[in-house]
Amino acid sequence: MLSNKPNGLVVANWKMELSYKGEVEAAKAIKNLSKGHNWASTKLVICPSYPSLPAVAQELAKVEEIEIGAQHVHWEDKGAWTGEVSINQIMPFAQWCIVGHSEQRRLTGLKDEQVSKTAAKLIQHGITPVVCLGETAEERAQDKTVETVTRQMKQLLAFMTRMLMAKVVVTYEPVWAISANNPVELPDPADMAGTMLLLRKIVSVEFGNEAAERMMVLYGGSIKASNVSEYVKEPGVNGVLVGSASTQPRQLIEIVNSVDGLIA
Ligand code: PGA
Repeated sequence: MLSNKPNGLVVANWKMELSYKGEVEAAKAIKNLSKGHNWASTKLVICPSYPSLPAVAQELAKVEEIEIGAQHVHWEDKGAWTGEVSINQIMPFAQWCIVGHSEQRRLTGLKDEQVSKTAAKLIQHGITPVVCLGETAEERAQDKTVETVTRQMKQLLAFMTRMLMAKVVVTYEPVWAISANNPVELPDPADMAGTMLLLRKIVSVEFGNEAAERMMVLYGGSIKASNVSEYVKEPGVNGVLVGSASTQPRQLIEIVNSVDGLIA
């Protein structure tokens, strides 16, 4: 079953940062630290690496505000795809899945079309896709941000209907702003909000205003407890996708508290 959409969303992308034991311990710490918070309208989605999905899912099973996601999945149902993982294989553990993260796009040559196909398939299987898009440093330097995100968004819409689109979460994640890429600066929050508005406009042209307004849009790239409010207080931001800082349970809880406080 697809998760009911919360008002606010924090997606914790643990990437390949921790050991198996480290991920299970982080899940335990998050469970303990989340006690007594009762986030009114915000959901936290933890995305561990594949091997710890079952253990992390089990650890957090009873925490209502926390759900589990995978970091990537293949668009084909099954087949000779060494090293890949299918939707069917993540289904027992994950209600969410990151799709088209720039690190996957760079590593595997994942194309916009495959990203969109995967998102549509996930919805059919009851898993909410968190689709990542955003310009690279090179595209930004060539002033191609609008062109890039427009192309990526239109490609996503090509595989969607209005009904399906209501179930997608879009993350605007400028590749150059990801902490692992050592950004020298971060996006101006107002520029980020402008790009998100553009994404909503593209949806509105295709599926109408209501679909555009209802779409959940997150920001990703070097979010920490100390800067999350600058981004989330901008209009039209529904939450954040957090990489590096999300592996620190205390900081992650602080981020969720901020998002929950700002998004009613
Ligand atoms: P970061 O990663 O928060 O470490 O920049 C975000 C991401 O790549 O998902």
